Amino acid sequence: MPRRVVILGATGSVGLQALDVVARSDGELTICGLAAGTAWEPLLEQALRLGVRRIALADADAAARAAEAWTDGEVLSGPDGIVALITESGADLVLNAIVGAAGLLASVATLGEGIDLALANKESLVVGGELITQLAEATGARILPVDSEHAALHQLIAGERPGSVLKLILTASGGPFRGFSPAALADVEVADALAHPTWSMGAKITIDSATLMNKGLEVIEAHHLFGTPYEEIDVVVHPQSIVHSLVQLIDGATLAHLGYPDMRVPIAYALHHPERAELPVAPLDLATLGSLTFEAPDVEAFPCLALARAAGRAGGTAPCVLNAANEVAVHAFLTDQIAFTRIPEVIETALAALGAGGWGMVHSFDMLTAADAEARAVAAEAVRSASAR
Ligand SMILES: NC(=O)c1ccc[n+]([C@@H]2O[C@H](COP(=O)([O-])OP(=O)(O)OC[C@H]3O[C@@H](n4cnc5c(N)ncnc54)[C@H](OP(=O)(O)O)[C@@H]3O)[C@@H](O)[C@H]2O)c1
Repeated sequence: MPRRVVILGATGSVGLQALDVVARSDGELTICGLAAGTAWEPLLEQALRLGVRRIALADADAAARAAEAWTDGEVLSGPDGIVALITESGADLVLNAIVGAAGLLASVATLGEGIDLALANKESLVVGGELITQLAEATGARILPVDSEHAALHQLIAGERPGSVLKLILTASGGPFRGFSPAALADVEVADALAHPTWSMGAKITIDSATLMNKGLEVIEAHHLFGTPYEEIDVVVHPQSIVHSLVQLIDGATLAHLGYPDMRVPIAYALHHPERAELPVAPLDLATLGSLTFEAPDVEAFPCLALARAAGRAGGTAPCVLNAANEVAVHAFLTDQIAFTRIPEVIETALAALGAGGWGMVHSFDMLTAADAEARAVAAEAVRSASAR
């Protein structure tokens, strides 16, 4: 029987590569639902091409247009429509490749239904890590990481007993501004920030890679996925993006996961797990590569990494606030409202304003929704004052 898969964020960078992995699966994977935000025409084209009968769009207007154009199939509307797509799909696996905190609800719906979750949407774990992992434990659903670093770690620690692992080490490409001084960063343009040296990705994660916030979010993601304390998760800059992660073991051995940067590898790992599938990815040729280099991250020029670590350590709603403020700041940078170096300032302002009285424990998803909304309001105000300066 083919594995039935729902793909959320099907029109994005990860979503499109997932469709390629499914197309190459020789019928082992079949798609039973597709969802996106607003891009109804590409989503509808995918559904028609792949014979999918049900799609969902988060944006109600986009959903109405798709429904008008597609009388043979069913179009679900809004975040609740995406939840219905998941819970009524009969899926074996849901790939969540929605961008941002908007993906949290879909992760909750998937795990709550006891369906395995292939997770690209790292923001789900950043915002609601404790609740998400508790939900997975309660229903027995598995979380299979799609982020390349975490897919690598998943494989590296699979054969190790917990007491054997000393440290998880995430690699970071360093982004397009590696080596820039804080002064040089003040003048960078949106187009420069979008030109990632090794990975081709959606706009938001590309900016997060340029600020190193992406690595900060990944540290929090790794903490929740593997139950590893923050002090046992390190980051090393590796500009070639060939080594995806490493684990240090108590006997002095260090294991690494290597390969050319191609997101189809971790996507296929999650969609086919525990099987492996063939992909048209060249075998690694180390002699041709010649050398791989590593350096410490520049935490002074790129304060987002430290902000994320601090929010992760603080716990409670701090990572949720960090994430929401980051989304607002990145959007403001992408739309030319603020300079690149204002991104960490906006996040810091939101964390300082909302964490002044300490961070409370998270007891419900409603608490996260409220913290997210509050952080967005504070961050929007910080953007307004930064752009007026
Ligand atoms: N790209 C990568 O290589 C990569 C690697 C590791 C992890 N990730 C993670 O994977 C996630 C997706 O990244 P991406 O680069 O693929 O982003 P992307 O190219 O911007 O695509 C985002 C997808 O999410 C959909 N979407 C946006 N808002 C939505 C909403 N409110 N409800 C439902 N769907 C919504 C978009 O639909 P529309 O087209 O309609 O806007 C699109 O299909 C992110 O969490 C990112 O951090 C990405």
